[in-house]
Amino acid sequence: MAHRIALIGGDGIGPEVTAEAVKVVRAAGVNIDATEFDLGGSRYLRDGEILSDATLNELRAFDAILLGAVGTPDVPPGVIERGLLLKMRFDLDLYVNQRPFAGTAPGHVTPHDFVVIRENTEGPYVGEGGVLRRGTPHEIATQGSVNSRHGVERCIRYAFELAAKRNRKHVTLVHKTNVLTFAGDLWQRAFNEVAAEFPQVETAYNHVDAACIYFVEDPHRYDVIVTDNLFGDILTDLGGAVSGGIGLASSANLNPARTGPSMFEPSHGSAPDIVGTGKANPTAAILSAALMLEFLGENDAAARIRTACDALPTGSTVEIGNAIAAAVAAN
Ligand code: IPM
Ligand code: MN
Repeated sequence: MAHRIALIGGDGIGPEVTAEAVKVVRAAGVNIDATEFDLGGSRYLRDGEILSDATLNELRAFDAILLGAVGTPDVPPGVIERGLLLKMRFDLDLYVNQRPFAGTAPGHVTPHDFVVIRENTEGPYVGEGGVLRRGTPHEIATQGSVNSRHGVERCIRYAFELAAKRNRKHVTLVHKTNVLTFAGDLWQRAFNEVAAEFPQVETAYNHVDAACIYFVEDPHRYDVIVTDNLFGDILTDLGGAVSGGIGLASSANLNPARTGPSMFEPSHGSAPDIVGTGKANPTAAILSAALMLEFLGENDAAARIRTACDALPTGSTVEIGNAIAAAVAAN
């Protein structure tokens, strides 16, 4: 049976990279039934739709969503991010943002292989807070970090379940418990309690600032990292930078409870400066499609795509897509 995929190419290089991802998925012999959705900054400028409730409800009927990138310079920052990306993450309850990193960091000889599990529905992203006396010298802005026991615990449990299936079986909590004592305490207690359910999984804790040093100097210490929404956003850009660049950084926004579709997107943005030049590397989008296939149970195809991407073909967007598609079809 065909997997029903909602395809949101989006803006800038988004449609270019998702086209290659779809090509590779088909080359892997996976039967998908793709329906395109015209969403993003360009659509918003045309008729004002960002993501209506009607469109969101249509999306709910799909097995998965594959997204390229959204955002155009003509739309003020935050409008599409909050109205489309965050709306999907929140309303579809995509509470895990899984971002794998593999590669050889600058200055290292042996490759690392770790995955960041970022909480994806809470933290400072939910829009708690407000502004008073805006535009005056006495302006006040607050932006709280929301951490529910339920939200934190389910994310941590996912990290442990994942670690239990991996070779090293190791989870590091990253936070800033020495300063963010309220949220940090909740995270640390939830972490300790879930850890007790997984005696076979080793644990560690790093403050987020120290973790930034280790990402660069000693990424091999990590297997699975679990962290909050904002720390995870920042750390995963750093993870991309030490793992071959953002052109390789894939990402899965998961609803592990499977009460609706999960969404898969490269970590990079819409890069309007290189649109149409063929300079966009489609590998991150292709690896995101591999994460999608794995989530849909197509483990063999996902593994074959990853192996083909390991060869790191170079060239234009289409040449890289063709090279990976050919390698996938042959193995
Ligand atoms: C990401 C992006 C988004 C985030 C933005 C575009 C809202 O940076 O997926 O990492 O901060 O989560
Ligand atoms: Mn980010």
